[in-house]
Amino acid sequence: MQSVKTLFSKETYASRREQLRRDVGHGIIVLPGNHEASCNYPDNTYWFRQDSTFLYFFGLQREDLVGVLDCDTGKDYLFGNDYDIDDIIWTGPLPSVSDLAASVGVSESGDMAALQSLCNKAAASARRVHYLPPYRADIQRQLSLLLGLRYDAVCCHASMDLVKACVKQRSIKSAEEVEEIEKAIATAYNMHVGAMKMAFEGRYEYELAGFMEGEARKGNGPVSFPVIMTIHGETLHNHGHNNRLEKGRMLVMDAGCETAMNYCSDITRSVPVGGRFDARQRAIYEIVLKAQMETIRISRPGITYQQVHTAISKVLAEGYKGLGILRGNVDDIVAAGAHSLLMPHGLGHMMGLDVHDMENYGQINVGYDEETRPSTQFGLGSLRCGRKLESGFVVTDEPGCYFIPALIDKWHAEGTNKDFVNFDELEKWKDFGGIRIEDDILITPDGCRVLGKPIPKTVDEIEATMSAC
Ligand code: GLY
Ligand code: MN
Ligand code: MN
Repeated sequence: MQSVKTLFSKETYASRREQLRRDVGHGIIVLPGNHEASCNYPDNTYWFRQDSTFLYFFGLQREDLVGVLDCDTGKDYLFGNDYDIDDIIWTGPLPSVSDLAASVGVSESGDMAALQSLCNKAAASARRVHYLPPYRADIQRQLSLLLGLRYDAVCCHASMDLVKACVKQRSIKSAEEVEEIEKAIATAYNMHVGAMKMAFEGRYEYELAGFMEGEARKGNGPVSFPVIMTIHGETLHNHGHNNRLEKGRMLVMDAGCETAMNYCSDITRSVPVGGRFDARQRAIYEIVLKAQMETIRISRPGITYQQVHTAISKVLAEGYKGLGILRGNVDDIVAAGAHSLLMPHGLGHMMGLDVHDMENYGQINVGYDEETRPSTQFGLGSLRCGRKLESGFVVTDEPGCYFIPALIDKWHAEGTNKDFVNFDELEKWKDFGGIRIEDDILITPDGCRVLGKPIPKTVDEIEATMSAC
């Protein structure tokens, strides 16, 4: 049964819903919660993950619920079928739907037949029904049946007014949300520091990944995405864990967790197997760290994250020039996107109830606005959040450096950015692997703050942590 500790106050949910009704203006808003999803046979389900929009406005963890907001009357509803004794003998006593509704300040509740009747009435009186683009087939089917739409027409009728109103509210994290995110980072601290201390030759990636999953569970939540734990960090989202840790490799550990209320953390640390950086590893690490710290130095309300991405790209390019990997004027290198050969991803993304926050609304609707549009350039085009920063945003700061042999060979063969890239020098680095360093930062009124207890990050801090075991 859901404990009260997994909810904010009723007033928090009521005021979020009131704001949403006001921002959307007219019609009704239908917000389905998630259903259980079967894994390998019907009763063996994946871990249940509630929909984040439903969590934001209704907070409830139970499956098969639907929230409705009536913008014209100001009424909120919770719909779901109560469990009967045949369920309760398996699940134990569970609160009724009306009790659940009351726990989050909703006065109206009913069963799924009542929801269908409300939707039918809305259709009969040609009221606008707002819903979000579904990202699960079962929800798409539920909306199709509820609203009398063809299954494949459901996505076309999703409401952009609702998307915009949700993005507007969820982008600005309240103090109590930041507190939850910092709890998730406290658990991530244990995950990362513990794994660092295991990063010695002869261990296997899966041992460290398994340790991290256990630490996440000890924090009363799951991992916030599949753990990346790899000595082949040049593969950006490498989810394989079968390699033996070998001396001379950098180990990229990108992992976070969710709290019991599903607020996330997303942290990356890269450490040398064995605990001592060699000269090459230290050189690349210091360049990436300098870029990561540059984000923290310049991020503040008013600057766009696209501008921050460009500024830190110059720090990276300057560093690679010093190593003889790139050549030419730094501004020209970055304008041409030549540095993206070594960082083909963006600087970061929003984070909150989703590790890539609100990505189900469509990245362009979350990370961009009328003023800041996504770039089409390789690398910068992968930036998930480019828009102007505002106080209350939580974004990740995650530059990296990756020597991707297939990409280097392709650019070399095609002569891409050949004026800026020293392919002969680069040949020597093709066995390096990758490095990424990631923290979660809160934009404050006059700058930004790295969230959570600091996790060892400098060369000295990492070497000291790994030597103390
Ligand atoms: N863990 C995926 C990311 O950092 O975006
Ligand atoms: Mn990450
Ligand atoms: Mn991230």
